[in-house]
This record gives sequence, structure tokens and C-alpha cells, in this order.
Amino acid sequence: MNKVVVVNGPNLGRLGVREPEVYGSQDLAALTEDCTRWGRDLGLDVRVCQSDDEAEVIGWMHRAVDEHTSVVMNPAAFTHYSYGLADAAHMVTDAGLPLIEVHISNPSSRDSFRKHSVISPVATSTITGLGFFGYRLALEAVAHLLDA
Ligand code: DQA
Repeated sequence: MNKVVVVNGPNLGRLGVREPEVYGSQDLAALTEDCTRWGRDLGLDVRVCQSDDEAEVIGWMHRAVDEHTSVVMNPAAFTHYSYGLADAAHMVTDAGLPLIEVHISNPSSRDSFRKHSVISPVATSTITGLGFFGYRLALEAVAHLLDA
């Protein structure tokens, strides 16, 4: 079964509590359950993780390359400034693996610092503004790309 890691960056462990009007009322456990179920339906072996630590998130990119694992990633605030994570994400797509960037909100319609993503240029695709459903679309995209 094809492996996919769903990586969530800083403060996404606070889903459900943090700005529910922006990110919704469901928590990370619900997102984990959704992604695992969607993955199973698509024939994907999905692992969901979250960290506030940039080094740990970068380490998951290295592991994805080494273990030939596709990536769905919400880089959260790292999106806007982490060149270290952008370089690590680039290694994933350079290895021929899909990496779909997901945002629950539509960052372009929010604060000006959110308008720029350092991850988008190296991602296979970016999905924004669709809530948790964006992760489902991202998993479908991975399944489609791996099939093609
Ligand atoms: C986010 C958008 C980012 O700007 C923000 O820093 C987040 C979440 C989103 O899912 O909409 O933490 O990535």
C-alpha cells in the first residue's frame, strides 16, 4: 500500500480552540480520523502528525524521501518564512514524490504576511480555503498522481 504522511505545522495542535471562525470547531484528533478514513477508502496507508518544531517537520520530509512516502502538508506559519522547510519539501518533489500543500483557510485573503508561501514553488500543488475537505482533495490528488 502506498504510504502518505500528513504533516501539520505549528499551532495546528490547537485546532478546535484556535480561531474556530477561521479554522472550524473540529480538533486535530478529528482531522486525524478523517484523513485515516479517507486514505483507507483511497487505498493509501496514511499517517498523520503535527509538530510546533521546525526541525522535526524537516526531519519528516527527509524520512519521506528515504521511505518513499508521499506528503500532504499544512506547513502553517512555516509556510511564510521557512526556507529550511522549503528546501526539505523540494527534496521530496525532486525525488518524484507528490507533495500537496494544504491550508484550511485561504491565506491570500488574510493578513499580508500570509500572502506569500515559500512552499508553493516547490509543491506539486496547493489547496486552500476548503477547511478539512482540502486534506481529502489532497489525498485524492496523491492517489491520482500515484496511479498515473
Ligand atoms: C494555515 C494558514 C497559515 O497562514 C497559518 O499560519 C496557519 C494555518 C491554514 O491552514 O489556513 O497556522 O496554514
